[in-house]
Formats: sequence, structure tokens, C-alpha cells
Amino acid sequence: MSPLVQLHASWPATILVADDEAAVRDLLRRVLVGAGYRVVEASTGRQAVARGELERPDLFILDIAMTDPGGVELCRAIKNDPLTRLTPVIHITDRIDREERLRALEAGSDEFVAKPFDVEELLIRVRSLLRTKRMTDHLVSDEAVLVALSRTVEARDHYTEKHLYRVADGSVEVARRMGMTDREMESVRLGGLLHDLGKIAVPDRVLHKPAGLDRAEYTLVKRHPEAGAEIVRPLRAFDGPELTVLHHHERFDGTGYPYGLRGEEIPLAARIVAVADSFDAMTTDRPYRLALRVEEALQRLDDGRGEQWDPLVVDIFVGQHVGSTEERGVAERRS
Ligand SMILES: [Fe+2]
Repeated sequence: MSPLVQLHASWPATILVADDEAAVRDLLRRVLVGAGYRVVEASTGRQAVARGELERPDLFILDIAMTDPGGVELCRAIKNDPLTRLTPVIHITDRIDREERLRALEAGSDEFVAKPFDVEELLIRVRSLLRTKRMTDHLVSDEAVLVALSRTVEARDHYTEKHLYRVADGSVEVARRMGMTDREMESVRLGGLLHDLGKIAVPDRVLHKPAGLDRAEYTLVKRHPEAGAEIVRPLRAFDGPELTVLHHHERFDGTGYPYGLRGEEIPLAARIVAVADSFDAMTTDRPYRLALRVEEALQRLDDGRGEQWDPLVVDIFVGQHVGSTEERGVAERRS
């Protein structure tokens, strides 16, 4: 496709402006519409979420001081969603609040503009971010297609799509506590979302059989990590979810599949996803058994440390659950 066609395909770019002050929205609308952009407005955080889902804008301009959800929380949600994670976010600030700016940067904010606006500077930032967005549009769509496919596979396997997101979030939290970089955490997140994608190659009659798979059927099920890795291999822009998908059924003691890797031979991201996936499977109702209680599932993880799972990953995972259970307990006691 020629650059000209690409430009026209996404023109005019849509910009969502969310600010509770009508005067600020009016000014931004006039400036942006004057520059040829299409503008969608929201006066609250909630409205911004709804319009964002409906309009799928190419750029968000969010008041950092907005509430419910706040400008920073909304930015974090945008950057965590595979469909919007490469959509740029500009935050509007009206004061030099270093803490708030750091929180916004940590949530993935791309730029800040301070009130009162320097209109020329604002338009330069908008143009530059939209140029990058156009270049990355095809990357996010590759990922979004695979995540959508992965959700379909989970639905077939009696899980809900929430399973994928719980595995991804639980894995990223462990990765964060292990000090991984943003790039590595992104790979872990994608590995969590796509780990069972290869089940698309497992026939329904096998996938839906409640128990007692025969040898041939089990062989079919055991092919899903390799089938999944094959599908995600073209995703070269996203640092290796392929290895996580391929090795998420390896066991720490070397008796897993597909390669029987042992200990640290298993990529760390796969060792993390294995724990988060097992925990979520244990705490979810299945057609042939009820969910275990959280405490019971954590105990099973602990019992399997060093055999099925990496002991360090189990310790961190169990630690963060015990921590959050205690925090919940304290909050409940306080309320
Ligand atoms: Fe699996």
C-alpha cells in the first residue's frame, strides 16, 4: 500500500477530548477541527470510557484531574487493552505536580500539555503522535486478531475470556515483582493471553471429553503448545510470546511437555504463566469438577514447588495472593 493510500485510509484522524471544563473542550475542539481532525468530546471519565469504546479514537487527550475514572487510571486501562495499547495519550495538566506526572508516565502517558495551551506546540505533538500511530496500526491489529482468536478458543474450552486476562494479569504481577523490564512484562502478558491458542487444533470431541482421554486423544491435546507457537511465530514485533506458548506445559522437574525441559532451561515467562494458569484453572468451575477454594489452590501450588512449578515463582505468586487476601481482610475489618 502506498503511503498516500495509507494516509487517506485513516483520515481524518479521530481525537477524543475528555475534560470536565467546557471552555477547555471548546478551545481544543476549535483548534483540532481547524487543523482537519475529527473531535469526539467527553465531560467525565465515564463518558470518555463509553465514547472511547464506541469511536475507537486515534488519539486521546485527557484531563489528568478528571475523576471516575481519573485521567491516569483511564490511560492505564487504554494501555493495558490489546485493542488500544498503541493509541497515544496526551494528558492535560494545569499545575506542576511531579508525583502526578510520574504516575501518568508510569501508566503509559505519551505527552503532557500544560494549561494555558500553546496551540502551535499542541498541534505539533498531536501530529507527531498520530504519525507514529499510523505506523503501528498494523502491529496492534496483528495482536488484536490473535487475542480475539484466543478468546474464541477459550470459549470453546468452557472458560470465559476473563480466564485469559486473569492469567495475563497474574503473570505480569509476578514479572513486575521479579524486576522484569516493561518490554519483558509485555511479552509475559501476551504469553498469558495466547498460551492456549493452539487448542484451536484440538478437535471438539477431545476438548469436550470430561475425563479419561485415551492415549491418542492425549497426544492430540499435548500438541497444543507447538500448534500455538506456530501461530504466534509471525508476531516478531512482540518479543517472544512464542516461547511462552511453546513451553507453558513444561514442568520444573523435567517431566512436562513438549520437550521435557528442566528448571531454568524453561524460559522464565513460561514458568510464570504455568503457575498463573494452573492457579486460575484450579479456582474455576469446570464441567467435571467444582472450583477449589483459593487457600486450597495456593496450598497445591506450594505442594508442587520444585516438582511441577518453579519454587521462586510459586513463592512470589502465593505471597502476592496472601498479601492481597490480608489487605482485603484489613479493609473489611475497617469498614
Ligand atoms: Fe495449555
